[in-house]
Amino acid sequence: MTETQNTVEFTPERLKIAQEMIDRYPAERQKSALLPLLHLAQEQWGWLSPEVMDYVGRMLDIQAIEVYEVATFYTMFHLDPVGKHVIEYCRTGPCCLMGGEEIYDYLKQKLGIQAGETTADQKFTLKEVECLAACGMGPVFQIREQYYMNLTRDKVDEIIAELSR
Ligand code: FES
Repeated sequence: MTETQNTVEFTPERLKIAQEMIDRYPAERQKSALLPLLHLAQEQWGWLSPEVMDYVGRMLDIQAIEVYEVATFYTMFHLDPVGKHVIEYCRTGPCCLMGGEEIYDYLKQKLGIQAGETTADQKFTLKEVECLAACGMGPVFQIREQYYMNLTRDKVDEIIAELSR
């Protein structure tokens, strides 16, 4: 992100949506709009820089630390720039029992990156996450709202090829 703190601002369309989110809660409870506002911010900027989190904090009239506490707790929020596709790979036990470790190693080798890294072409970022609640269909990873389940090496090849186009 290239914007300075003073120029960080939602687009007019998102500003309207943000205000609607804030208005859902009583004035003294507007902090409740924090999660949806962070999602909205990540949708616009792709990740949550300190300047963006400060901006959200000012909108809600809360301290920046309160925003940081929430943003750093949830793995769905990106605190560094990410690639076009963020692969959130389940690293919890049931998926591991279904071969998740081997597929994870294959995926890392295929992309040439480790967890927390982004490919040189900026297309893929890899993140490790806990259970995605699809344990019966592991191994599983998620990209945005899409789940990719029952992963095999061939499926990984297909998915990466499709998303690389
Ligand atoms: Fe992977 Fe639950 S353990 S989805």
